This record gives sequence, structure tokens and C-alpha cells, in this order.
Amino acid sequence: MLSRTLLKRILASPARFNSTPKTVVPFRFYSFTQAEQPRIRIGSTAPNFQVETTKGAIDFHEYVNGNWVILFSHPADYTPVCTTELGAFSRLKPEFDKRGVKLIGLSTEGVESHQGWIKDIEEVETNGDAFQFPIIADGKREVAYKYDMVTEDDFKNLQAGKPVATVRTVFIIDPAKKIRLIMTYPASTGRNTEEVIRVIDALQLADGKGIATPVDWTVGKEVIIPPTVSDEDAKAKFGDFRKVKPYLRYAKVD
Ligand code: BEZ
Repeated sequence: MLSRTLLKRILASPARFNSTPKTVVPFRFYSFTQAEQPRIRIGSTAPNFQVETTKGAIDFHEYVNGNWVILFSHPADYTPVCTTELGAFSRLKPEFDKRGVKLIGLSTEGVESHQGWIKDIEEVETNGDAFQFPIIADGKREVAYKYDMVTEDDFKNLQAGKPVATVRTVFIIDPAKKIRLIMTYPASTGRNTEEVIRVIDALQLADGKGIATPVDWTVGKEVIIPPTVSDEDAKAKFGDFRKVKPYLRYAKVD
């Protein structure tokens, strides 16, 4: 779906009204090829980029700088679902700080549009408190392309140089700049902040304690002893544990 701003830009484009092909400067975004698009998987190094944000220009790898980072995209400025999401993530900044996680949002309009929208978010979502993290202005769709933040149809549009809106992706990136978790939602479905915090907790606990987490795990619940750990090592590491099957063993960790 096109945002109103995008639609306005297209309508304002000289190419739309100029009927002399030789003098037309077509309204095009950069076009991108499928073959050159980085294939991002869990374990890939997060592709780097330099871009303008609402907090100034950044180099993404410098922004990570040894922290966990959540990079998450939004279809367009001044849209209702995105407004609720960004407001909620901004309110939860203290929870992300506790976990050493930096947030960075993305939308495809420019910094000026983002700044105006942030005022609305502060008015209706954060009770007047300042919005807490940068939003990338991905006008060239470079980040959207590198991180594949678009639908199938819009990927084709991107290749044809047409402007597109992004879907709702979440990339959780660790301090070593590795992609650790990817979520993708359509524009019509808002994300769940509790789930995002839950998976951060699960990833950090798995890294710290060498465990896995079962279905619907939340902090304080039993964890899973990975099958690669022998009973003897499990006893030494976790103390008494609960063995349901040789391959299904539960332990408690702090
Ligand atoms: C929204 O954020 O509200 C939204 C954006 C694009 C399509 C549908 C909803």
C-alpha cells in the first residue's frame, strides 16, 4: 500500500505530466537486482549501510558498537498500526536498556516526515515523553533491499525502480553483528512487544547458560538441557534435573 506522502511524491513527479519522452527525467528509486541481494540468514553478518536517521547520519556497524540491536521496519509514516508500535517500543526503552539492547526503526519517508510523525507519536502514545530511538529514513530503499523488508510484489517493483513501502520485519542482531533472529509480519498485523522481549531474554539466556528454551518459555520457567550435553555434565552444570526422556531434560537456571 502506498503512503499518502509516497502518493504525493509520485503525483508531483515531472515524469507523470511530461509527454515528451526525450526530456522526461523519470521518477525512479534505485533499482536493485535479485542476484545481488544479500541472502540474510540466522548467523549472517548484518549487512552494513550508511543512512540518515532522525538522530543524524549513522554507519550501522558503528551504531551496533558491541551492543544487541533491534532493527525493525515500518510500512509508512503517519499510519495507525505503526504509530502504536513505535509508541510501545519507545515506552519500553528502559526494558531494552536493562538487556543492553539498542533500538532502531525504519520507514521509507525522509527525516522531516519522520520528525513530524514522532510529534504525533509523542502526543498520542508516550504521554508527551520524548521518543526514545532513531528512525532510519530509507528513501533509497537500500536497507529495505539489503534486508529484504518487502513483499514479493514489491521486490519486483524495487527491481523496476519503483517506490515501495516496507513490511514489518524485526532483526535481532548480537554484539558480534550476527543476525540471531528474524520475524516478518505483513503491514496489517502489528507486532507483539512482549514476544520481542521474550526472545531477547531467551537468546541471552541460551548464550549465557548453554541451554535452550521450550515452547511458551518465559523468564523463571524451566529450560531445556541440549541433547549435546551428557547426563553427567548436566548434573555438574545444573544440579538435579528432570528427565522425561533421554532427549527431553529440564533444568532450573537463575
Ligand atoms: C499501519 O501502520 O497502520 C498500516 C500501514 C500499511 C498498511 C496497513 C496498515
